[in-house]
Amino acid sequence: MPASVVLGAQWGDEGKGKAIDQLAADSSWAVRFQGGNNAGHTIVLGDTTLKLHQIPSGVTSQNCKLVLGDGMVIDPWVLEEELDRWRELTGESPEGDRLFISERASVILPFHRMYDSADKLVGTTGRGIGPAYRDRIERVGIRFVDLGAVSSDKEKISETAERMNKQLAAVGVEERIEPEALMADLKWIIERFGDAIRPTGLMVDEALRDGENVLLEGAQGAMLDIDQGTYPFVTSSVTSRANATHGAGIHPGHVSQCFGISKAYTTRVGNGPFPTELPYEEGPGNHMAMVGHEFGTTTGRPRRTGWLDMVALRDSHRINGYTGLVLTKLDVLGGLEEIKICTGYQLDGDVIEVMPTSCDDLARCIPVYEVHPGFPALSDEDWIAMADESRASGSGLGAMPEKVLRYVRRIEELSGIPVVSVGVGPDRRASIASAGGPFDVNPVEATF
Ligand code: IMP
Repeated sequence: MPASVVLGAQWGDEGKGKAIDQLAADSSWAVRFQGGNNAGHTIVLGDTTLKLHQIPSGVTSQNCKLVLGDGMVIDPWVLEEELDRWRELTGESPEGDRLFISERASVILPFHRMYDSADKLVGTTGRGIGPAYRDRIERVGIRFVDLGAVSSDKEKISETAERMNKQLAAVGVEERIEPEALMADLKWIIERFGDAIRPTGLMVDEALRDGENVLLEGAQGAMLDIDQGTYPFVTSSVTSRANATHGAGIHPGHVSQCFGISKAYTTRVGNGPFPTELPYEEGPGNHMAMVGHEFGTTTGRPRRTGWLDMVALRDSHRINGYTGLVLTKLDVLGGLEEIKICTGYQLDGDVIEVMPTSCDDLARCIPVYEVHPGFPALSDEDWIAMADESRASGSGLGAMPEKVLRYVRRIEELSGIPVVSVGVGPDRRASIASAGGPFDVNPVEATF
């Protein structure tokens, strides 16, 4: 049985959690394959809202085993906090029972966070992600499987602390790493998570051979990919479909479907070019920010907002070959007089339809728009009623008002990706799926 991949198709924060929730109900494994606690997703259980950063979104399905995969960099202190909050809310301690940490994943240490605090260019989340990946590439990082050996090797600990301190000094960070503290940290990680540290690639491979469904959960988005994104304003990992299996420790042949998640508009946090960006303080940009509550889950920073960029989405499709597009937060556009879609860029007098590779060129691009009539704002209840009616009648996307449907169909046409689901509100019921498609299922309830 197959693996399905869910990816952010833009610059992250597309609202992947809800789509993952829907698919997790039918999956027995949910695997994060890259990134770390730079990601963030919000889980609503009853009256409580929980922000998680590393635990896969599939956690709300009790049948789902959870993997923090080979390709990740993991902050054990943040993981402990997430697990504490999960236990307080549900009474469950999944670590070692249904939550597993890959032996091959890299450990984020206090040094990595300190070093990341020196970033002035990219506007990183400051969580130590880039420095942890840098250590991995330099082959000096510590993987979870190495914790035992390193923590009992005094010489290695001193060398490591010395290297870290030189690097902190070089970037003007005043804090220093004491060898004793480093050793104590490593020992604590083994004590706290020892049971959960496993050869997860082997476990997921075996599950696939046994016919189980596996969900591969992407973090960040296509435009933040280290190789294919808007470099250098990107994250430090390969966020794309090609890495979904690799970072999970299985082969690409297992994947049968790959869903791209895109907002009906665009947001970006951190620095870097964003051709369709709108002024934040007024007009449609402000409408998107306020109605869409566009603040980062991890850092709380306001997200930059703009119109949907088809040039970026087509690029993202070229890299990832989406079998279906999940359009999120369409309801947020309700109440705007007109809605624009960027179909190309003007660069030095020419109209281009692909993203230039250089960020300097991208920063000079002026979007070419086509303009669609707006549609009225509806209440959450009205959208949910529309979604319920769509499910009850089997009318699929046809349950949407004509102007909304035309906007959605135009996105399909311009992107070349079939829209399989449209998110019209935060509620689990507030999704309208294409009839007979992979998201044409009854709304899932959390099993806690
Ligand atoms: P880093 O991943 O913390 O190194 O940050 C690099 C860039 O990626 C910055 O522009 C961040 O704002 C952005 N970024 C990282 N993770 C996310 C995410 O989950 N959503 C949106 N942007 C992100």
